[in-house]
Amino acid sequence: MDTKVIEIHPAAGAEKKGRYLRNIWYVAALSSEVNATDLFARTLLDTSVLIYRKADGTAVAMHDRCPHRFVPLSKGTRQGDEVVCKYHALRFDCDGKCTHNPHGNGHIPEAAKVKTFPLMEKYGFLWIWMGDEPADPALLPDYSPLDHGHENGVAYTYMHMKANYELIIDNVMDLSHIDHVHGEIITTRGQLSPLIPKVKDTARTVNARWEWKQTPAMMIFANFLPDPKAEARHFFDITWSPPANIQLSVGAIQGDGNLDLKDCTGQYDLHTTTPESNGTTHYWFATRRNHIEEDGDFNKMKIKAMHDAFVDEDFPIIEAVGKEMGGEDFFDLKPVLMSNDIAPVKVRKLLQHLIEQEEG
Ligand code: FES
Ligand SMILES: [Fe+2]
Repeated sequence: MDTKVIEIHPAAGAEKKGRYLRNIWYVAALSSEVNATDLFARTLLDTSVLIYRKADGTAVAMHDRCPHRFVPLSKGTRQGDEVVCKYHALRFDCDGKCTHNPHGNGHIPEAAKVKTFPLMEKYGFLWIWMGDEPADPALLPDYSPLDHGHENGVAYTYMHMKANYELIIDNVMDLSHIDHVHGEIITTRGQLSPLIPKVKDTARTVNARWEWKQTPAMMIFANFLPDPKAEARHFFDITWSPPANIQLSVGAIQGDGNLDLKDCTGQYDLHTTTPESNGTTHYWFATRRNHIEEDGDFNKMKIKAMHDAFVDEDFPIIEAVGKEMGGEDFFDLKPVLMSNDIAPVKVRKLLQHLIEQEEG
């Protein structure tokens, strides 16, 4: 008699835990997302995390799970700088140590401890270290240009995406997509796709640079140039640093001058992502411009336009890609590779190498 072997496959796109670089800084939240009093909860690298600010304003992070019966501590309440679990009121200090047990004789079991995570507040973000090695502040790249200048010259936004974080890195490292995906505000009028960016890499970074001319200039800059309708020279300069930070500078100029942010009308941006899970991602975008820096209304309008462009134009494509890939490895799917893939493929390989190195 024939017997049939029935293989049961997980549903396409089924969640599996991701492999992440761990001994590195990830953004946990915008500084402005965590206020002075509330308990803030967010899942990062498949781990639930509680973040709150002590009375002195310093932010702290710990596993958002009571070691007794696993209630998220973020459901509980604050008592000074400590957190009281909602379920049976064990109390923990911000080192994760249990300081009070209202049950029985009040004995505090040895195992009543919560794992804490180092946090660093810099450049408008709370950065978290979730690896087991000691946190190394030197591994956070310098994004201090975000800090320098008028408060209305910088803006931040948060987005949540239903796709793996490496798909966003691919998207930003390959800016040739902008003429095909985005509308009028950042079009290069077809100039970017034919260009092969200059790509440079180091042991821990990948940089790509494009220079081109277009008429008129990119809409986000045209009105700040001497002749908004005339040709302008442009540049994009982007640098990826592990795990998922892409610093992007873009600018335009008419007449003499260098293609940099000193001479051009432009902006200094940071795209940074943190995996929530293997298939979902927290995505932050920060931007500081070097023109009409004091205009608060323009600042609000501009960040909303950028946010909407990402969410309405990039996200539907990236989320569809993620769904179509169904959790398969990018290279296993044997993607067609073209000239615009040089930088994103270098990043994928380098990130993979760093993860393998870390895992030993
Ligand atoms: S689950 Fe937290 S005290 Fe019981
Ligand atoms: Fe885009």
